[in-house]
Amino acid sequence: MAEARAKEIQDPGGRLGVLMPGMGAVATTLVAGVELAKKGLAEPVGSLTQLGTVRLGKRTEDRAPKIKDFVPLAGMESVVFGGWDVFADDDAYEAAAAAGVMEKEHLCAVRDELKGIRPMPAVFDSRYVSKLEGAHVKAYSSLREAVEMVREDIRSFKKENSLERVVMVNCASTEAYLQPREPHFTLEGFEAALDRNDPAIPPAMVYAYAAIKEGVPYANGAPSLAVDIPALTELAKEEGVPVAGKDFKTGQTLIKTIFAPGIKARMLGVEGWFSTNILGNRDGEVLDDPESLKSKEVSKLSVLDHIFQPELYPELYGYVSHIVKINYYPPRGDSKEGWDNIDLFGWCGYPMQIKINLLARDSILAAPIVLDLALFLDLAKRAGMGGIQEWLSFYFKSPMTLPELYPEHDLFIQQMKLKNTLRSIMGEEVIHHTGLDYYE
Ligand SMILES: NC(=O)c1ccc[n+]([C@@H]2O[C@H](COP(=O)([O-])OP(=O)(O)OC[C@H]3O[C@@H](n4cnc5c(N)ncnc54)[C@H](O)[C@@H]3O)[C@@H](O)[C@H]2O)c1
Repeated sequence: MAEARAKEIQDPGGRLGVLMPGMGAVATTLVAGVELAKKGLAEPVGSLTQLGTVRLGKRTEDRAPKIKDFVPLAGMESVVFGGWDVFADDDAYEAAAAAGVMEKEHLCAVRDELKGIRPMPAVFDSRYVSKLEGAHVKAYSSLREAVEMVREDIRSFKKENSLERVVMVNCASTEAYLQPREPHFTLEGFEAALDRNDPAIPPAMVYAYAAIKEGVPYANGAPSLAVDIPALTELAKEEGVPVAGKDFKTGQTLIKTIFAPGIKARMLGVEGWFSTNILGNRDGEVLDDPESLKSKEVSKLSVLDHIFQPELYPELYGYVSHIVKINYYPPRGDSKEGWDNIDLFGWCGYPMQIKINLLARDSILAAPIVLDLALFLDLAKRAGMGGIQEWLSFYFKSPMTLPELYPEHDLFIQQMKLKNTLRSIMGEEVIHHTGLDYYE
């Protein structure tokens, strides 16, 4: 049995700022939802921090408090939102209306709150997001200067809103695919690259670096390469700043990480898994560029390999043909449709099929993830947990881990890891589910 040891956790008093690079569909759906929930006009469905419970002790003890009553989380009422975007005239109300996720009736009920949020000018580089034009962007002569501007924005936002603490969640468009390379390996190399304006540093990394330097916990909701480079994970560890990523696990990948563990648990084989999507929001438009699309496809593809572990089960998963397609189809807006065809086999190799047709609302699934990440990262910071927060893998398509560890993609293991981490930091015993003691 693991030894229970409570961590010292600072009180979540005062106001918490949530800053988001990218105030598009996901960010504005989050803000609108939180403001509606504060007024009692909607439930924060999909949020573990608001609705989830955690079992403590033995089943016979009947202890299952809400997570928010068990760990000292900041309350939704204490959260203040802000962010950056490349669109000039949009306040969060206009941006939410343009995103077309929420009904007019809902948006009108929180119009004033949304109108009060105006994105700050962005750090933008069209080489990384070629489908957008940056109208509302910062003018800087070096990436170092861009970093300083973002740091100044964070400090002013904190001061102007009388905030105790701030967290950052990247909700900006997917950037062009980038593999970690020379300036990304060490902090020294990274900082030298900032000084010489190296194009290997995209805007997502500028925001991430600025956040860490300001002691602001950071999560990456986009598939872009950002904090997931050795230079920045090392810095986060050194500075005691929690970081997590990347790419919110919402529609098709969420379903995949629910179904695949079940198929594997029953030791059924898989010959192929074909996934295709249509989506028509701005995210889809950005993904219409092959370089941005590659970032998303790479992020989506890694999931099955890690769940099926073909090296352990070559007879079941040695040759899975896994194909993922994403198609931009404007009429669909934020209401994405995904199809999955799974070719599986059972006893004596007899073939079977599963077809899944998911009609999801992308940002409706993503918004509660941003809220949970913001509140959990704030908790992690107050509990003195710096560096990579693997226990938040639950929320990501490509979870970050230490280099020597493989990422855990199975949603149920991720959930157990998350809840056991909460139990552990609160000094409760972790739950291992053997149940043998009841029968001894
Ligand atoms: N919606 C989902 O379910 C989901 C799931 C996983 C990941 N994501 C990722 O989350 C991100 C946001 O998704 P969305 O649907 O809100 O997209 P969106 O296009 O509606 O919003 C993204 C916003 O980012 C802005 N932006 C682009 N570059 C920027 C920069 N350098 N600085 C500041 N702002 C910038 C854009 O102008 C846009 O308003 C995307 O990267 C997407 O891939 C979304």
